[in-house]
Parts: sequence; C-alpha cells; structure tokens
Amino acid sequence: MSLQERARRERFLEKAAATAGACRKCQIGFERRHNVYGEGDPCARLMVIGEGPGETEDLLGRPFVGRAGELLDKMLAAIDLPREDVYICNTVKCRPTVLDGEKLRNRAPVPAEMANCRPYLDEQIEVIAPQVILALGAPAAKSFLGVHFSITKSRGIWYEGPNSIPLIATFHPAYILRQGGMAMNETKRQVWSDLKQVREKLDALRKPPEQADLFESPPVI
Ligand code: URA
Repeated sequence: MSLQERARRERFLEKAAATAGACRKCQIGFERRHNVYGEGDPCARLMVIGEGPGETEDLLGRPFVGRAGELLDKMLAAIDLPREDVYICNTVKCRPTVLDGEKLRNRAPVPAEMANCRPYLDEQIEVIAPQVILALGAPAAKSFLGVHFSITKSRGIWYEGPNSIPLIATFHPAYILRQGGMAMNETKRQVWSDLKQVREKLDALRKPPEQADLFESPPVI
C-alpha cells in the first residue's frame, strides 16, 4: 500500500468521522458524550465490528477500550494481530443507553439506530476494504446476515459479507466476561476456534498463487 493511498484513506476517514460526529438522526445522538467512530489501520486486512460503544468508550471516544476491549486485545494478540494492525468499529457510533433508576445502563442498539448508522459503517468498509470482517456478537452478525442469524448455531462459519468480503461471526467478548466457570471455558474454546479461522483465512489470502496455477495450460513454445 503506497503512502499516498494510506494518507488518502486517513483524510477520508477523518472527514467521515467529523460528519458522523455531527449526526443527530437518533435520540442517542443527543445523549452520548462522544461519537465513537472507529479507529485503527486505514489499510487493515481485518475489520472487527462490534455492537455499540459502552460507558468507557462513550467517555473516551474510542471503541473497545473497556473490559471487553481488553479481552478483545488479548484475542487479537492470540492470533498475532496487534490492535494497531486492525480496524475496530461498531454497528452504531453512539452509546445506546437505558435509564435504570438513577443510572444509565448499556443496551443493544435497536434496528432503527443500526439503520441510521449503517451508511457510516458502509463507508468505513468501502474505504478500508478489509480482506476479512469479524463480527462480534449477535447484533453485529445479524446486521449483515439477517435477523434470523443465530450466533450460537452459526458462528465460526464463513459468509459472503458486504462487498463480497469474507465475514465470520463469533461471541462478543462482553458475553465471554459475563459467563463463569465451565460455560466460560467452553465459550472461550469456541471463540479460539473462530479466531484460528480468521488467522488461516488471512494467511491464505496473503499467499502468492501456487506455482502450478501459473502454468495451468502448458506454455506454447
Ligand atoms: N462493546 C461493543 O460492542 N463495542 C465497544 O466499542 C465496546 C463494547
């Protein structure tokens, strides 16, 4: 990737983040502290898409920087991907909340919020053009694969994602953290298996074509 192309993408994403930051299509746009647009390598081969910002993300304006984010960093490191090498964002850029007594709690984004935010996500996918997309959790997976997608039954399978990019879904790190004991170990085992698939896909896509493929038909001399 040329330095010019990297700079072009950075400029584009900076402008797009400013546009998204001014968005007030949803009520949560008025309530959030920061619009959490996304961050990472604009030339990333892997794009990780979560659900929506939580409290820490809303406070800091960065995706996956709370407890779930710490676990995500470890998950990525386990497949030799430092956080800086991937692009991380969410289906919605503003923190969806619900008032519970005096306290604001996180909630899953509703379909209308995801639909309002989708153009920003589509733009990110278009400009970064990752080779692989990893969807974290059911809401992110459903936003690409339809409302009937079941994360428990259909995670760890490759799908054709947006712009024909291979997409795989796995459990959200926050879901792993909510579990305990044996259940947590089993979920971690499944997530590890999905992550290994991501690593294998990235490796396969980097490989030069087999020598044999170059000479599919014998050269005419
Ligand atoms: N959970 C998400 O889905 N996204 C974040 O950015 C943080 C927690």
